[in-house]
Amino acid sequence: MCGIIGYVGEKDCASILLNGLKRLEYRGYDSSGIAVLNSVNDKNEISMIRRVGNLKKLEKALSEVEMKGSLGIGHTRWATHGKPHRLNAHPHSDCKNEILLVHNGIIENYEPLRKELVLKGHKFVSETDTEVLVHLVEELYKDDLVEAVKETLKRVEGSYAIVVMSIKCPNQLVGARYDSPLVVGLGDDENFLVSDMPAVLEHTNKFLIIDQGEIVNVTKGKVEIYDRNGNKINKKPYKTNWDISLAEKEGYEDFMLKEIMEQPVAVRETYRAHVYKHKISLDESSLPLEIIKKAKKIFVIACGTSLFAGFVAKGVIEKFAKITVDVVTASEFRYMNPIIPDPSIIIAISQSGETLDTIAGIREAKKKKAWVLVVSNVMESSAVRESDGAMYTFAGPEIGVAASKTHTSQIMVSYLLALYLAKIRGTITEDEIAFHLETLKGVPDKIKSVLDNHDKIKELADIYHKFPNFIFIGRKFGLPAVMEGALKLKEISYIHAEAYPAGEMKHGPIALVGENCPVVAIVNKSSIYSKIISNINEVKARGASVLALATIGDSKIKNLADHVIEVPEIPEEFSAIINVVPLQLFAYEVAKKLGCNVDQPRNLAKTVTVE
Ligand code: F6R
Repeated sequence: MCGIIGYVGEKDCASILLNGLKRLEYRGYDSSGIAVLNSVNDKNEISMIRRVGNLKKLEKALSEVEMKGSLGIGHTRWATHGKPHRLNAHPHSDCKNEILLVHNGIIENYEPLRKELVLKGHKFVSETDTEVLVHLVEELYKDDLVEAVKETLKRVEGSYAIVVMSIKCPNQLVGARYDSPLVVGLGDDENFLVSDMPAVLEHTNKFLIIDQGEIVNVTKGKVEIYDRNGNKINKKPYKTNWDISLAEKEGYEDFMLKEIMEQPVAVRETYRAHVYKHKISLDESSLPLEIIKKAKKIFVIACGTSLFAGFVAKGVIEKFAKITVDVVTASEFRYMNPIIPDPSIIIAISQSGETLDTIAGIREAKKKKAWVLVVSNVMESSAVRESDGAMYTFAGPEIGVAASKTHTSQIMVSYLLALYLAKIRGTITEDEIAFHLETLKGVPDKIKSVLDNHDKIKELADIYHKFPNFIFIGRKFGLPAVMEGALKLKEISYIHAEAYPAGEMKHGPIALVGENCPVVAIVNKSSIYSKIISNINEVKARGASVLALATIGDSKIKNLADHVIEVPEIPEEFSAIINVVPLQLFAYEVAKKLGCNVDQPRNLAKTVTVE
C-alpha cells in the first residue's frame, strides 16, 4: 500500500527519488519522505525530509533546501499503523540517525518487538509498526548490513518490502521482500530498488524481480541476491516493453481520463495477444487440456473491480463451457475453507498481481491442489509467479487508482477464455467460435463510439452530480456492469451508490428510491428487456429519475426514462464490456463536477498489499 524506492549511483539522487515517488504515488499519498546520504571529505552525513500530504508538499520542501548525495531512499505512504503525521512518515531511523529504512507492508508482531527494544534502551518516536525494523537492524548490526537485515527479518512476522541504508555503508542499499513487491532496476553505474517497474522506466527497462524471502545487496555496480537460507542466487534480468510515455498523462487532465480513453487500444491489444488467425491460443503449460476436460468446477477469486470482471467471466463460462463457476471475494475465499473438488480450476483475477488477499487465495487454492490460472496486467507480478499459468491483459500501466482500461481488458480475456474452455470441453463448434470472435474483434470500435458520447455524458453529470444517493440496476449479463458502475461512482465521487439485480428492488431497496435517489439502469436489447422495462416502471412510479443505458434506436426507453445514454448493439453475453464504459465516464464527470481528485481518491491506494 506504500511506494518505496532506493537509488545508488553517481548522480545527485534527490530528484531521481522524487520523480520515482511521483510514479508510485498511486500506492499511497498521505505522507512521504526522502533521505539522502552525502559523503564529503570522508565524512558521511544523512539529510532527510518528510512531509504530511501528497507529494507536492515534499516537492516544495525539497525545492527550499539543497540535498546532495548519490545514495538515498524514499517512501510514499498509505497509513496503516499511526495517523498521517510527519513522525509516522518514512524513512524511519535508528536511535543515532545512522540507519534509515523505508517499508511497505505490515509487521504483525511489532508490539512485543517494540517492548523488547524499549527495554534495551531504544527510543521510539513514531506510532508505526515499521520503526521496530530499523531499531532491530541497529540492535543486530555488527559490521555487515546484509547480516543485520537478515537477522532482523528472522524475528519479524508479517509482510514487507524494505530498503535500508546506513551511514556506515555509503555505497550500499539492502532490500528484502516478503508478501510485498520489490524489484531491482538495473542501470549503468547505478541501480534502483523499487516497488514496481513504471517508477524507474525513464532510467531502465531491465529488472531483477525479488522473490519471497529474498534479500538483495545493491551497490552502483553490483547486485547480489540471497535466498531465504542465505544462499547466493543468480537471476536472469527481465526486460519489459512498457515505455515511459505509457505512464504519463499525454495532455489529459487526469490519468483516469487518459486510461478510460485508451480502452479501445487496450482491449484490441488484449484481443490480438490471444487470437491468431481466428483461433484462441493458450499454452498447454498455462492450462493443460486434461485439466480443462476433467474439471468439475471453476472458482474465480478476485477483489473489487477485478471481482466484477469475475462475475462477467462466470456468466460467459457457464453459458459457453457449461461448467459451474463460483465467484468468491478473495479475502473471504482464504478463510472459508472452500470445498474444491479435484480437479478444479481457480481463475485469479488481479490487474496488479500484487493484491495480498488474492495472492493468499491463490496459495489456499494451491494447497488444495487446484490448478491456478491468473489473469493479470503485470508480467512477473507475485500472483503470476505463484500461479500455475497466466493469461495477460495488455492494457499497459494503469496509474489512476480507480481501474478502467485494465477492467475492460480483463473482461476481454474472460470472453476469450470462456470460448477456449468451451472449445476444449466440446460445448461449442468451431463455426460458433469464429462467429463470436468476429463480434469480439469489433468491440474496440464499439467502445470508441461510446467514448465519442463524452460531451453528452458530461451534460448528464451536470444534472446528476447534485444527488446524494444512487441505485444502479441491471439483470443477467447487465449485472456486473452496474456493480462496477456503482463502485466507480462511490470511490471517486464519494456519492453513496448501490447496485442491485433489478428484480430484487421490490424485496427491499425500492424503499430507498424517490426524488433524492435516482436510478441508473442497464436496459440493452436482450432476452430480459421487457422484465427490466417493468422494473423501470416500478421505480418511475415511486418518483425516481431514471438514467438508462439503452441500445441505439430504442424509442420505447426514450419515452420512459428521464435520460438515455445510447450504446451500440451487441449480443447480451458480451454487453458488459461496452456498458461499463459510459458508467466509468459518468462517475468520472460527476467526480470532476464535485471537485474530487479522481486519480487519488481519499482512503484508497492502487495496490492493496495488506489484508
Ligand atoms: C477499484 C479498484 C479496486 C481493485 C482491487 C483489486 O477501481 O481498482 O477495487 O480492482 O483493489 O486490485 P487488483 O486487480 O490489482 O488485484
